[in-house]
Amino acid sequence: MPDDQIAISAVGLTRTFGRRSGRVHALRGVDINIQRGTVTGLVGPNGAGKSTFLKLVLGFLYPTAGTVSVFGAAAGSDEARRKIGYLPEHPSFPQYLNGREILHYIGGLIDLDPALARQRADELLAELGIAHAAGRRVRSYSKGMAQRLGIAQALMGDHELIILDEPMSGLDPVGRADVKRLLRRHKESGQTIIFCSHILEDVERLADNIIMLNRGQVAYSGPLYDLMAGQGASWQVVVRTASPPDISGVAWAKVGAQLWSAENITSAAVQQLHRAAADGACDVVELRHQRADLESLFLELAGSAQEGVQ
Ligand SMILES: Nc1ncnc2c1ncn2[C@@H]1O[C@H](COP(=O)(O)OP(=O)(O)OP(=O)(O)O)[C@@H](O)[C@H]1O
Ligand SMILES: [Mg+2]
Repeated sequence: MPDDQIAISAVGLTRTFGRRSGRVHALRGVDINIQRGTVTGLVGPNGAGKSTFLKLVLGFLYPTAGTVSVFGAAAGSDEARRKIGYLPEHPSFPQYLNGREILHYIGGLIDLDPALARQRADELLAELGIAHAAGRRVRSYSKGMAQRLGIAQALMGDHELIILDEPMSGLDPVGRADVKRLLRRHKESGQTIIFCSHILEDVERLADNIIMLNRGQVAYSGPLYDLMAGQGASWQVVVRTASPPDISGVAWAKVGAQLWSAENITSAAVQQLHRAAADGACDVVELRHQRADLESLFLELAGSAQEGVQ
């Protein structure tokens, strides 16, 4: 990968916490390259090192060994930090401010023009479905509302790199769909996104690439569709539309009024189908794995990685 195409580069990245008997090896010699303009899903069991990796990228933690850089600048440098929007695992806000004030405040911190900050805040509040609560103090927000506000603040700066630690946590299905739509749009405008999630269905829908960590080591890193195709994945899909999108290798059969079905389609074709659906060409009514899915691969890889770690 040419250097100017690399968003995040980690070499031998290692982080240890504590001393002697209480020592925890959160990351052990992790090598990762993340390409500019891609969406990466970071997955792995609880305690695998996902949040630690993101905090090292942000420069909130220092590595015990190894290095990590962001668009060629050392993680934690002003140059690197200026390029990152971040949703922490446990977002917290000044409780006496309301949602809109918090976004304006963030706008000030990142030197946004005040008029632009107000406009962006209003757009994000609407897109994340909390415009009705914009004037309420965040102290009164439900968990999902606070999470939506957390995502809004991460997107305020239109940063080149967006880091989201469990963005779907606490969100209802509508909220998850809103966030996925929003993140796809940010990807289309060329931003690089990395997020961790335990909701593998969301990872499958959103990510181009997967990094699977297990006990501080990389169990898999590469394109989602290679991973799935490698396991012989194929899908069955039903869409609602007057005329189904023309996707190579997909043979549509009419199964009802405006309903079309296709079987044995590849993961790459599913990706094209999601794009067509995002453009309004059809609604995906049903999508089923006929063979492998990320969850079974996750269980398999996590299991074999565990056997390999002392
Ligand atoms: N500040 C810290 N002090 C001591 N140990 C820590 C600290 N932060 C993380 N750890 C340990 O490092 C390991 C990795 O933690 P991390 O938070 O990165 O996991 P994670 O993959 O994000 O897990 P989860 O899915 O539960 O969020 C865990 O064993 C955790 O207890
Ligand atoms: Mg975590």
